[in-house]
Amino acid sequence: MRIAVLGTGEVGRALAGRCAEVGHDVVVGTRDPARTRERDGYAGWLDGHPEVRLVTNAEAGAHAELLVNATNGAGSLAALTDAGVAEHPEHPGLVVLDVANVLDFSGGGRYPGIGAAIDHSLAEQLQAAFPAADVVKGLNTMNCQVMARPDRVPGEHVTFVAGDDEEAKATVRDLLSAFGWPEHRVLDLGGLDAARATEMYLPLWLSLSGAAGTAEVNIAVCR
Ligand SMILES: NC(=O)c1ccc[n+]([C@@H]2O[C@H](COP(=O)([O-])OP(=O)(O)OC[C@H]3O[C@@H](n4cnc5c(N)ncnc54)[C@H](OP(=O)(O)O)[C@@H]3O)[C@@H](O)[C@H]2O)c1
Repeated sequence: MRIAVLGTGEVGRALAGRCAEVGHDVVVGTRDPARTRERDGYAGWLDGHPEVRLVTNAEAGAHAELLVNATNGAGSLAALTDAGVAEHPEHPGLVVLDVANVLDFSGGGRYPGIGAAIDHSLAEQLQAAFPAADVVKGLNTMNCQVMARPDRVPGEHVTFVAGDDEEAKATVRDLLSAFGWPEHRVLDLGGLDAARATEMYLPLWLSLSGAAGTAEVNIAVCR
């Protein structure tokens, strides 16, 4: 599948690398490829992943059958707009896997401000802005290394998906399966409004990882 990952941070790198490793045709979108190459060792990362191409957000959007939003939550709307998600006539029903959270660390306290609340989420904001796309929220409740390689954490821990389009969720589930997520550990929370809950989960994740002493921690659901 042609996958575009928007996001050149640690999450974008982990997911783009893994998507390529499991056999997909992957590009990474950024606002300014030349500047990104110079930043935070990105050129070195690309050298280690020669099968991944760094392109503009617009080129990434044109490439995508599935687009992964791994951008800073505050910049996601701008990044997807740049990627032309609104005018994607060649791919109506473009699947957008949204792994982003809106976090505000400017307060300096133990917990960042979060952009989601009981009546809104980033995923729903993106879906409303790009009604021709099918947004699926997933993977945003854990560290990016665990997203890409669930076996880094032992046990029957889970990830969630939420979205309004069943076919889009099935596409995302296939990708997660290729990453190593067994079917029974991908819990479908229903419609996209469940993204409110998974986006609001972040403060608990921060406490859990602090208590566990590692970012490689996740939750299991026992029935
Ligand atoms: N770190 C984790 O393990 C983890 C876990 C769960 C969820 N998340 C979420 O995953 C996302 C990515 O996290 P990260 O730490 O890898 O990266 P990040 O530093 O949060 O975001 C980096 C990316 O955001 C883009 N960006 C920032 N401001 C922008 C703007 N105004 N317009 C367009 N694009 C903008 C950058 O684009 P350019 O390349 O163009 O500069 C860059 O690709 C975040 O939403 C984060 O909350 C992270």
